[in-house]
Amino acid sequence: AIQACLFDLDGVLVDTAKYHYQAWKRLAGELGFEFTEKDNERLKGVSRDASLQILLEVGGISDVKEEQRQQLAERKNSWYVESISRMDASELLPGALEFLKECRANGIRTALGSASKNAPLILANTGLAPYFDAIVDGTLTSRAKPDPEVFLLGAAKLGVQPGACVVFEDAEAGIEAAVRAGMRSVGIGSPAVLTQADVVVPSLAAFSVAKLREWQVTA
Ligand code: G6P
Ligand code: MG
Repeated sequence: AIQACLFDLDGVLVDTAKYHYQAWKRLAGELGFEFTEKDNERLKGVSRDASLQILLEVGGISDVKEEQRQQLAERKNSWYVESISRMDASELLPGALEFLKECRANGIRTALGSASKNAPLILANTGLAPYFDAIVDGTLTSRAKPDPEVFLLGAAKLGVQPGACVVFEDAEAGIEAAVRAGMRSVGIGSPAVLTQADVVVPSLAAFSVAKLREWQVTA
């Protein structure tokens, strides 16, 4: 039976994906190239450094020294932090809080599995922190999604076997990480993008513990 739900943060529980996109787009603009929403799909779930690498590739920029890379990543992050500092519970995605509460009420353990180093600030601002039994963020992991490290660490912290875990993810890289961790996955977004997910829903509002149980029987 399913014992634990592991949640990505950006794009699953909170609408921060748009702030990441805005900040990367602004950086691309300063560097003199266009950065589209389609390009942005490749950045979802990917760490800050790895995202910068992809952004520079999109712009056809290759000769950037390490020191300059760090400055660019920090510049993007300062804009991003400016946006999330103003966040509150109104920016929770549809159904997120309700589903977390439902997990609690049904004895299903919960963990955060995010690549973001800003996760603690976001959880504090939106009031989500008390709903997690374990938190794994970008400060605890060294290998970015699609590596399964973040989710395996979350399962270990909860003391639950990977096979009894379900991952909720909006990113291709995150779904791949779940598959590699030996976990079930629910994609949040478009079935055309999240092709490896076991189930895809537009938001957590379309999901429930009852669905989790139903789906277990058929999966
Ligand atoms: C999440 C987002 C990515 C972001 C990454 C690192 O996985 O989906 O878009 O790049 O976290 O976030 P950070 O807040 O540490 O820059
Ligand atoms: Mg995400």
